[in-house]
Amino acid sequence: KEIVVSGIRSTGILHLGNYFGAIRNYIRMQEEFNCYFFVADWHALTTHPDPKELRGNVYRVLAENIASGLDPEKVTLYVQSDIPEIAELYLLLNMMAYKGELEKVPTFKDKVRQNPDNVNAGLLTYPVLMTADILVHRGLKVPVGKDQEQHLEMSRNFAQRFNNRYGYLFPEPVPFNYGDDLIKINSLDGVGKMSKSENQNSTIFLNDSDDDIRYKIKRAKTDSGPQEPNSAKPDYIANLFTLMGLVSTPDTIKHFEDTFNNCTIRYGDMKKQLAEDMVAFIAPIREKAEAIQQDTAYLTRIMRYGAEKARASAAQTLQEARKLMGINFY
Ligand code: TYM
Repeated sequence: KEIVVSGIRSTGILHLGNYFGAIRNYIRMQEEFNCYFFVADWHALTTHPDPKELRGNVYRVLAENIASGLDPEKVTLYVQSDIPEIAELYLLLNMMAYKGELEKVPTFKDKVRQNPDNVNAGLLTYPVLMTADILVHRGLKVPVGKDQEQHLEMSRNFAQRFNNRYGYLFPEPVPFNYGDDLIKINSLDGVGKMSKSENQNSTIFLNDSDDDIRYKIKRAKTDSGPQEPNSAKPDYIANLFTLMGLVSTPDTIKHFEDTFNNCTIRYGDMKKQLAEDMVAFIAPIREKAEAIQQDTAYLTRIMRYGAEKARASAAQTLQEARKLMGINFY
């Protein structure tokens, strides 16, 4: 079976972008592949979160993954910081990564712009740690949203450089989404992508109440409607159709596509329908996640069990890597 690896940072409540870019693929992939899914708590440290909050978020992300349908018996579900082999491989892979290329990564440049006082080395080498996450299990397929595409391109470069220098060890990991194109869910205000930190009223979180969801979708950006039959959709309208495509029935989608194409669409009606379908989709996940999050004994058991399985796989890779690099002595 092909090896799948992916992670989610523990930086807050998960949102629809995380669900449709990543988790939805996880749920399907667990039936087909050998999957390693983890909470990236080391990656979260780059922005210096409050320790108590970080800890709560780790439990929260685990609970949300399980509530969404991930089965800890079918996949290896763990917390990044429980696997010291990842840190060791990160150190080794840092020798394959050049300062110039790391400085050019768009997500790094964004962070520098947003917070010029905290340009730490962890931020600079973020893609190297991500590569270590994947290669520590010799992962090939990486289910992620579109925003991670460039990071994975770097991962392939690092893997290739290692293989060329020391001999083949690592596959070159590729981003994955069922349905081919990687997903980008836009923010409901039509500005940028949906994210944990941007405008909270334009992001739908997996713990939003039914009324929050209705309120946010009602406020989503629209306009006075298409002026000509079969026009191209502006981004913010296309995004509502994308969301509808994910939670509504084919008949509903067809109805609104048709009315869009013949210029009779009423966005108020569309948003009402989308809101109800979204509520029906999110409510069960929210309720399950809340219950699981309370059960810290259960979550701790899952974490330990996952860490044990993940370390067994990681240790094998490290043994090979050390041997190839000439640093194995016993
Ligand atoms: P993170 O925590 O920002 O996001 C987790 C996953 O959600 C996807 N995503 C989106 N997809 C579509 N539309 C959006 N608006 C949207 N927002 C987020 C992300 O693409 C991601 O798949 N660096 C990673 C975490 C990570 C990782 C890894 C991923 C660390 N090591 C190794 C894969 C493999 C991140 O910050 O994701």
